[in-house]
Amino acid sequence: LRDPSHERLLERYGDRIGRPRAELETPALLLDLGAARRNIARMADLLTGLRVGLRPHVKAHKSPELARLQIEAGAAGVACATVWEAVVMAERAGVEDILIANQVVGAGKLGRVATLAGECRLTVAVDDGRNVRDLSQAAVAAGSELELLIEVDVGMGRAGVRTVEHAVALAATIAELAGVRLRGVQGYEGHCMIEDDRALREAAAVAANRALLAVVDALEDAGHPCETVSGGGTGTYAITGANPGVHEVQAGSYVLMDSFHERLVPGEFELALSVLGRVVSRQGATVVLDCGRKSVSTDFGNPGLVAYPEAHVRLYAEEHCLVDFDRPPPLDLGDTAEVGLSYAPTGVNLHDVFHVVDDGVVTAIWPVAARGSGPPLLR
Ligand SMILES: Cc1ncc(COP(=O)(O)O)c(C=O)c1O
Repeated sequence: LRDPSHERLLERYGDRIGRPRAELETPALLLDLGAARRNIARMADLLTGLRVGLRPHVKAHKSPELARLQIEAGAAGVACATVWEAVVMAERAGVEDILIANQVVGAGKLGRVATLAGECRLTVAVDDGRNVRDLSQAAVAAGSELELLIEVDVGMGRAGVRTVEHAVALAATIAELAGVRLRGVQGYEGHCMIEDDRALREAAAVAANRALLAVVDALEDAGHPCETVSGGGTGTYAITGANPGVHEVQAGSYVLMDSFHERLVPGEFELALSVLGRVVSRQGATVVLDCGRKSVSTDFGNPGLVAYPEAHVRLYAEEHCLVDFDRPPPLDLGDTAEVGLSYAPTGVNLHDVFHVVDDGVVTAIWPVAARGSGPPLLR
């Protein structure tokens, strides 16, 4: 598919293909493709072992190329956070079964999802009857059918119906309307991902799953079958995925990894993502790299240097990363060093492209294609 924005990025970054990592302009987002492939294969195997489906969330990488690898490894479809991610996944990656795991509101986006539903199997999360009516109207106007998951708040306090009664009423509204069909429920236990204590996290995830399945029972008793029960993430895949009532796990960050997710599933997946910086100043025991907060996200702490975990990263300023060593620094002016990320989803989003690295050499440039809200969405 011809994509002018993709072509512009290749024009801008394409000459980096074939260069050794240390000769890249910095800061540069690096993807270790071997590690990403192994992570993809590992999660696919783990979930096959648990007899549960995988619907990888693509919000962390926003990359059609990585999504294709996940589909080739057996994922039935993908989950997206935004309408633009869904458009990119359908049109650039050819994904046939796409869930927008959030609410879609606003005329432009309603129109776009309704058209997109004519091109692939498209499912949207809902938690409000007014929104269901808007989706129905948009789908009828486009001559398409949108599938819906009722989102249930299972403890995070974000979107999602708060009561079983609300879920049942919403299902009744959906059943009355043309252009929309109830596919099932979604309950994302995001509050568990910020619980470091493994035992507490497990208890919270089990309770969240129980709350979700109570809604499924009530819906089915009221005559609304749930073909799809969806939830889970990288930090809870083993708990939510082991629940026989859950059909698919929405884990996503396992592909790239970061220190936030490493704490949740230590040693299970490899770090496939880093930002390459270059030493622009060396003063005593301190070196200054040119990768600050405009290229490295610091949401969950200051990421450290991959090759020198003992070094103290004191501060990320806008364009500077300040690193203190307790010995003469092993890095000199002009040297490069990689920093990991503390939270991949917000870190990737700061960059135009992944530099795909194999054996220390850039082998491809992959756009972070689904950044932002996309071009005007109504067509
Ligand atoms: C609805 C939903 N599902 C799944 C995920 C996936 O989480 P992770 O990237 O931690 O695997 C998220 C993350 O925010 C989410 O919001």
